[in-house]
Amino acid sequence: MNSQIKDSLDRPLRDLRISVIDRCNFRCQYCMPAEIFHENFQFLPKSELLSYEEIVRLSKIFAGLGVKKLRLTGGEPLLRRDLTTLISNLVKIEGIEDIGLTTNGVFLKKHAVNLKEAGLQRVNISLDSLDDDLFKKMNGRDIGIKPVIEGIAAAKEAGLGVKVNMVVKKETNESQILPMARFCKDEGLQLRYIEFMDVGHTNGWQLKNVITKKELLAMLQTEFDLEPVEEDYFGEVAKRFRYKGTTAEVGFITSVSESFCSTCTRARLSANGSLYTCLFNGKGHDLKSLLRSDMTDEELTGFIISLWNRRDDRYSDERAAGTVKKQEKIEMSFIGG
Ligand code: GTP
Ligand code: 5AD
Ligand code: SF4
Ligand code: SF4
Repeated sequence: MNSQIKDSLDRPLRDLRISVIDRCNFRCQYCMPAEIFHENFQFLPKSELLSYEEIVRLSKIFAGLGVKKLRLTGGEPLLRRDLTTLISNLVKIEGIEDIGLTTNGVFLKKHAVNLKEAGLQRVNISLDSLDDDLFKKMNGRDIGIKPVIEGIAAAKEAGLGVKVNMVVKKETNESQILPMARFCKDEGLQLRYIEFMDVGHTNGWQLKNVITKKELLAMLQTEFDLEPVEEDYFGEVAKRFRYKGTTAEVGFITSVSESFCSTCTRARLSANGSLYTCLFNGKGHDLKSLLRSDMTDEELTGFIISLWNRRDDRYSDERAAGTVKKQEKIEMSFIGG
């Protein structure tokens, strides 16, 4: 079966973002502040994590409903053991055209070749600063940029597609906006600036800390000639620009200043097997219990279809319109961004 299902706003289901673990070796202030995610923080026990068999079973069902892209996230997905085993089974699923991984890059040097061999196509690597001290401060773990830079190099060397994600926060890493553009352009890497988002309840988000795409573009234009580029795929998250006369590109992820909910085709699966229909909607739907019951694939499929058919999330649009209803949110590190 390969049916197309639509939600209540006529959006198909095309992408599944799968968080494989809720732990991370970093404590980025905007995602997992160390004061909250401290030494005694209760992360999920292993028995609560979906097994690789369960993830593959669900991914097959989602592929049957029109999902073409899978993205593995965390926490930090490379902290989950034998991730290559999962990837090599996901690539075999009929209908899956693209498998990516979002990572902080620290463990990529060790794993890049194996990930590529298992069938991973692309990695999106987070890097918020080229300045060691600032980077350490932002990641809360006293880790400098060296392992990330080496991870980026290893991923390129292994033949993986690489994009770099930079969350930009006012009064934190503005000084890095132009240096990061120069670095990524010279290295032939697509850099995406991400507007700081109000995900979860713990990151102290305030609108005044957001640097918008418009402001970022104006800064870049003091140094570079840029032209807009057509979107790569329907509902692409980033708006991309090309450095004129080159093939190098830079992108902007504008959840705050230019929301993109009308083309949002993404579902999210947490590491403990709950399905979320929006990054900002904390109401998870427990698929793990269903997987661990005697439900058949057909019944699970029916459950997911009815859930997607009812979906009406458009949080970023509502934030922009000032019509957000008070709702429970979900932590970024738990749902993988
Ligand atoms: P590709 O375009 O396939 O390379 O991946 P991506 O950009 O969708 O994934 P990535 O994990 O690199 O995410 C980059 C940023 O976009 C993160 O900050 C995500 O939280 C954000 N993002 C991804 N999807 C959505 C979405 O549906 N809504 C919002 N508001 N942000 C999103
Ligand atoms: N706002 C914007 N982006 C965020 N990320 C984590 N927290 C936030 C936030 N509050 C980014 C990470 C990573 C991606 C998955 O999401 O830096 O690149
Ligand atoms: Fe870890 Fe990524 Fe969150 Fe930083 S943004 S704490 S690297 S999951
Ligand atoms: Fe999709 Fe929600 Fe992001 Fe809008 S805010 S693009 S509905 S995940």
